[in-house]
Order: sequence, then structure tokens, then C-alpha cells
Amino acid sequence: MQKVKPEDIKQEWWKETVVYQIYPRSYQDSSGDGVGDLRGIINRLDYIADLGVETIWLSPIFKSPNDDNGYDVSDYRDIMDEFGSMKDFDDLLAGMKERNLRLILDLVPNHSSDEHFWFQEAKKSKDNPYRDYYYWKPPNEDGTPPTNWVSFFAPSTWELDETTGEYYLHIFSVKQPDLNWENPKVRQEVYDIMHFWMQKGIDGFRIDVLPFISKDLSFPNMNEETFDGNYGRFYANGPRLHEFIHEMNREVISKYDMMTVGEGPGISPEQALEYVGEDRNELHTIYHFDHMDIDRDDFFKLKKYDLVEFKAIVSNWERLIHMGGWNTAFLGNHDFPRIVSRFGNDKEYRKESAKLLGMFILTQRGVPYIYFGEEIGMTNVSWESLDKYRDLQVFDGHQKHLAAGGSEEEFLKSLKHTSRDNARTPMQWDDSENSGFSSSKPWIDLNPRYPEINVAESEADPNSILNFYKKMLKFRRASKTLVYGAFEDLMPEDPSLFVYTRIMGDERFLITLNFSDDNQTVKMPEGMTAKECVICNYSDCEKLGDELNLRPWEACLLRLH
Ligand code: GLC
Repeated sequence: MQKVKPEDIKQEWWKETVVYQIYPRSYQDSSGDGVGDLRGIINRLDYIADLGVETIWLSPIFKSPNDDNGYDVSDYRDIMDEFGSMKDFDDLLAGMKERNLRLILDLVPNHSSDEHFWFQEAKKSKDNPYRDYYYWKPPNEDGTPPTNWVSFFAPSTWELDETTGEYYLHIFSVKQPDLNWENPKVRQEVYDIMHFWMQKGIDGFRIDVLPFISKDLSFPNMNEETFDGNYGRFYANGPRLHEFIHEMNREVISKYDMMTVGEGPGISPEQALEYVGEDRNELHTIYHFDHMDIDRDDFFKLKKYDLVEFKAIVSNWERLIHMGGWNTAFLGNHDFPRIVSRFGNDKEYRKESAKLLGMFILTQRGVPYIYFGEEIGMTNVSWESLDKYRDLQVFDGHQKHLAAGGSEEEFLKSLKHTSRDNARTPMQWDDSENSGFSSSKPWIDLNPRYPEINVAESEADPNSILNFYKKMLKFRRASKTLVYGAFEDLMPEDPSLFVYTRIMGDERFLITLNFSDDNQTVKMPEGMTAKECVICNYSDCEKLGDELNLRPWEACLLRLH
């Protein structure tokens, strides 16, 4: 494949930005009800600006009965009660603009809540004007659901509606009916919603499970030929998908200076190019899940994670850039466990490995995403009983696991490494009761490690993870080479080291990451000598000779001659 020269890449603000994702429920409570809210975020804007990120992605803030914490929207033009009012939103946006922060909101166009007016109407009768906002099907002749599809959050994707005797489709929970994108009125509704928020002055959208919006209208059953064990791939990339996204671009995206990032379960780099290629007129960016599947066979079934495979995935996705698209770099979000527990060592090397992972994200070619709490090295929780969990996926997974003959004990053990709730515990601001998150008991338990791991402690320590992130962010945001420079993995077969270059013109960086608890030695690659250790996660970095001796989880950003 012809490699694109960094100098030839078109420079854009949305390629250079760094995103900080906030799960509003868990960031900062200002009202004292134990649930985070918009005023809480306003109170923390100085912290966010000082961190050095540029764009904030807020997980859904629209009105919702919270079956899936806002990913089930009952009014796309209003704010969730627990989070505040439209006035709070306007104040938040104004506060962000004052600090030169951008905002992208989470748009959920694949499904609404069953409590949305559209669905409430649709289920009244077969001839209701909103009926075909959703997918309805009669039962099979033998009374079974229309297909054998399995839902992410329920045994079947079909739920029988007693009033009309038909099933409706829900790829996610029974309270998240799928919107029928075949219906032009539905598409127009979504575009109108996008305009509504863009005209308020936001900078774009993260778009939830976008690859699922177009369905195969023949509704084929899953069988060995059509299903390879990955639900994401099965539901993704339906026949009219790109026609719909193209239309969304024409109707909305092309009309603003904005940024879009599609959540992209089940896609390859070639398929990603169809979403983000410059000549496609669809999205700006998309993020994939290949590295998120690396340590599990299914959502709750762990397998050993292998750095060689991880690196191969990173290099594979580099191809997207050479084909003319742009990439995304993330290790965690609200759907995955905490990154230091998953890819680092959250015990003896928590600080070192959390910094290493931060350096990895911030030296990738692609838009970096930092999920709140990563900047202080927040870890997974280790709960012993099911009643601590809040995520509906845990309860559905539990049922499915038991039905398949699995044991309770096995499931509880796996949750410690897999549950989404690991990443949803409240932000740890200080060591006071409720961690400075709220004046009352939070909606989900705090991580018991908060007295040791918190923002106040990190601010006071010059060598903290937080201060390391600030240094890295400052450097990244000023460096065109770290944004656009060529990426090359120099040691793809090494099981413990990730060593790569980022080069643009005369500026050359070598990044050396030791993903292990042991010392590692590597020869400086031929033709390369380091002239400066720019940033390192140990305080006494001296990597200037022919050999690089890397201590456990040591991470260095070196400038080369
Ligand atoms: C996306 C969201 C996830 C949600 C699901 C259904 O994957 O990130 O949190 O449960 O979509 O909306």
C-alpha cells in the first residue's frame, strides 16, 4: 500500500483535538441527590481546562427513564431531570466557550426509549401515524418471535406487544425499541434534532451504534453461515447504511464546522474507510472495537491478552490513514473496565502503568480519547455480590450465563474484570466522605480505593499521574508530529515492548513502552540515537546510549537526532 506522507495530510482541528469523555452521572453532583449533574460539571470546568484537553464528549444528557443510563432517550430536546435544566446546559456551554473548550454530545439514533412519545403512540394501534417509526412483525406461525436474534441486553431482540399482538425489534433492552430508518420521517426527525443542538452552539456528536441503523429487511435468522459469534458484526453495516449516513451528511454535517465520531462496533479498516474517507461525505471519524475484544471470548468470558496481537491491531488500523481516513485512539470508555486494571498493573505499578497507557494514547496517530478518571489512574472495583452492580447488562448476562450452565461464582469473578460498572463509579475528587463527588450516598458505590486515588492527592504530587497527563497533553497539543507524523512499530514481535517512531520532516520521536513487570533491554534501532528524553514516567530518565534499559512499565518519549 502506498503510504501517505504526513505533510500531505490535510490539517483539520478535529484531527488535532483531544477528547475528554465524561459520564455525567458519575462526574460531580451539585444537587446532593447522589447523581452527577450539569452544574457539577460547570463547577469542574477549571479542572478540565487545566488538564489540557480541548473537547468534551458528554455521554447522553437528554431526558430518559435511565434503563440504560441515558442511552434510552424519551425526549431528545430536553435535559434529563437528574442532570438539571436547559438553563444549566446553556450555562455549561457558555462556561466551556469561555475556556475554549468544545462540546460534542452523544446522539442515540438507532433506538429511542419505549417512553418516548413516538413509541407511546406507535404501540396504540397498527394504523397509528407513528407505527412505522419502529419495526413491527407478527409472530411466526408457531407463535415464536420473528427471528432468532439475540439482544445485547435480553434473550431475544423481539418483544411481544399485547395490544396489537405484534413484536417490536430491540437490539438492546426491551425499553430501547429500534427506530425504523427506512421511514424518511424518522430520518428527518433525527436531522432536526441534530440541527437543534448544533444551533445552540455545540461542536458535534458522538453517534451511538451508528452501524446498526440500517436493517436487512429480509430479517434472516442467525445461522452458522451468517453469524460468526460477534453480534456487533451481525447487526452492523446493513444495506442502506451509507445511503443514510450520506444523507445525514448532506442534511446536517456538511452545513457546520463540526466533528462527528461514530461508534463502530463490528467494522474493519476497509469498512471504516466507507464511513470516514475524505471523498465519502459521511463522517469525520469512527472508533472500532478490535482491541476491546482482545481479552474476551464474549462479553463476560475472559481470555489471556497478548501484546503482540494488540500491536498488530494498532498497525492494522494505521492502514485507514494511508487509505485516506483518520483514526481514533482510546483504551477505555463507559462500556469497558478501567484501563489500568485491564492493560496495566493496578497494584504495584499502578502509577507507572497508568502513565504508560496515557503516553500510548497521546502518542497515537488518531484522535485521543481520555475517559474521566484515567488521568488519576482509577481502577476496577472488586465487588463480591451482584447487588452492588447497577448495569442492566450485568443482570441480563447473569441470566444468560446461568441458562448456559455457568456457575454463579464464575460469573461474579468475571464481572470484576468485565463489567461496565467498573468504569462508572463516581469520580474520586478527594478523600472525604463520598470522595467530594456528592454530599449524599452516590447512585453506585464508590471505588473503595478513593482515599488513596483521588484528584486532591494527585494535584499535590508533582510526580502524579495527573501531572504526567498534563505534561503529555501540553506536548501533544503543540506537536504536529505527534498528530500527523508517520507511525512505525519497530518491534512488532516483542511480547513485552511497544517501541515505535513518529516522524514528520526533520522531527523524529521514538516512543518506548515497557508493558511488563520486568526490566527489559533493547538495542537502540540502527541509525537512531536519542538526543533528548522529552517525557518519561520515571523521574530520572537517561536514555541516550546505544542500549535502552527499561524499568517495569517505563514509558519514554525520546527525541532523535
Ligand atoms: C452503545 C453505548 C452503550 C449503550 C449501547 C446502547 O454501545 O456506548 O453504553 O448501552 O450503545 O445504546
